[in-house]
Amino acid sequence: MAQGPAGTITMMALESTRINLEQLNAALSRTQRLAGIGTLTASVAHELTNPISIITNTCHNLLSQVADDNLSVDELLHYIQMIDQSAWRCARLVQTLRTYTHIDNPQVEPCDLNKMIEDSLTLVAYQFRRQFNVEIETELAPDLTSLRCDPNQITQVLVNLLTNARDAMHALGGTVHITSWAVPEEGAVAFAVRDSGAGIPPELLDRIFEPFFTTKPAGLGTGLGLSIAAGIVQQHHGRITAENNPDGGATFTVILPTGR
Ligand SMILES: Nc1ncnc2c1ncn2[C@@H]1O[C@H](COP(=O)(O)OP(=O)(O)O)[C@@H](O)[C@H]1O
Ligand SMILES: [Mg+2]
Repeated sequence: MAQGPAGTITMMALESTRINLEQLNAALSRTQRLAGIGTLTASVAHELTNPISIITNTCHNLLSQVADDNLSVDELLHYIQMIDQSAWRCARLVQTLRTYTHIDNPQVEPCDLNKMIEDSLTLVAYQFRRQFNVEIETELAPDLTSLRCDPNQITQVLVNLLTNARDAMHALGGTVHITSWAVPEEGAVAFAVRDSGAGIPPELLDRIFEPFFTTKPAGLGTGLGLSIAAGIVQQHHGRITAENNPDGGATFTVILPTGR
């Protein structure tokens, strides 16, 4: 009951260490997000070239066929649909980038887990295609819309796990498998990112979530991806685990209480 001055000072010191760690964590999270924005912007810019060239080519065809008075209603409808679809794809890409780069305080809102998985795949698609022969498979349970979370942060967790899966791939490429499912007995939803890469050396399994722990060459790894992912999952009162697959590669599983 009696707490002497020494105890009070220790408590205060602990409290201020906790605050400093929280601030440091927030700063690291922002730094990594900012570092990622450059790469993501390049990816999105690249992804935009396809739909934009579809739009410009279609407009060009339309103009010349109109000039030649050689355009049926069916063709006109087809062209309009192509322009419409491509314009929506552009809008979606830009929206995804805007969502990801939003650095405000966590905004908890009702979210669709599968949509966040699709957004994260859009964000990493270019990196995956450019460097490796990697197949992406998804197995998503329907109706995972009951989750309350910060969609930017959960998308960041997914991007970090997908980037690691890509880095772990052998030179010949491989498969990244993303699964989502409901865990009704826990009032939770879950997702897993499984890769067919090199796997995690068993003696390192305990260390990979530590800040700055990396086995990648300088300049390639920051060692922050998993610690930030774990921090975000913890903020959402969830769990993240890593294990090696019996047939090679690793699986990262995230379980998130829906918060409802
Ligand atoms: N999918 C994976 N397969 C094998 N090892 C992994 C995988 N994901 C993470 N790791 C290991 O965990 C370490 C820490 O990952 P992370 O925190 O994302 O930092 P970084 O990717 O910058 O190294 C990696 O350097 C790697 O050794
Ligand atoms: Mg990483």
